Amino acid sequence: MNDAVSPRVALLETPRLILRPWLDRDREPFARMSTDSRVMQHLLPFASPEAIDAWIDRQCAHLEAHGFCLWAIESKADGDFIGAAGLLRVGYEAHFTPAVEVGWRVAQRFWGQGYAPEAAACAIRFGFEHVELQEIVANTAAANRNSRRVMEKLGMSHAAADDFDHPLVPIENLLRRQVLYRLQRDRWSVRDTTSRSP
Ligand SMILES: CC(C)(COP(=O)(O)OP(=O)(O)OC[C@H]1O[C@@H](n2cnc3c(N)ncnc32)[C@H](O)[C@@H]1OP(=O)(O)O)[C@@H](O)C(=O)NCCC(=O)NCCS
Repeated sequence: MNDAVSPRVALLETPRLILRPWLDRDREPFARMSTDSRVMQHLLPFASPEAIDAWIDRQCAHLEAHGFCLWAIESKADGDFIGAAGLLRVGYEAHFTPAVEVGWRVAQRFWGQGYAPEAAACAIRFGFEHVELQEIVANTAAANRNSRRVMEKLGMSHAAADDFDHPLVPIENLLRRQVLYRLQRDRWSVRDTTSRSP
């Protein structure tokens, strides 16, 4: 992994979406989606409104420190806040760390329109082309079929031997068992032949 801070980009763009740093106006719609039980079904719940705000603050700090984060996703068509997607350094120790993960969460009214894979593909391209990562991982609770589907659409591969117990999830919690998907830069560059730089 390249330890240098990545080159700064103001925002990333896809055909329908803008991935950009967080703005104060995102806090209300992000808080709304973060208390939606379907969005949070396979995620650890936030303890309080302050914890939701602190999540956004952590993305801002991660962007400042590393040049990437889970960015806010905005609709190009009408400026709607759609969710969050991007890259994070994995913040705990596991058999696959140190590593950078790609992640996503989308407000429920926008599900099923391919926004998560579109945003994530753009973040992955940024990770391989600009951060010069050799591999990007993704993990989720085994039962999170929608998220696993996004990983498949991105060409990520899963080996059962990689599955792990998430050290930050309590032992008795069903979310503790996580599946791990991987995407190597070599495989991605073969597959993503139409990619463009941001
Ligand atoms: C996972 C998630 C980001 C997918 O976002 P998305 O923009 O809807 O992604 P897609 O449109 O590609 O849909 C992915 C799959 O979700 C399922 N799906 C889509 N819309 C759905 C809906 N309204 N209800 C239930 N499932 C739906 C489908 O299986 C779909 O696969 P398909 O396109 O082959 O039919 C979104 O479901 C979400 O935010 N979930 C909650 C947060 C979360 O779990 N994040 C991941 C943590 S690891």
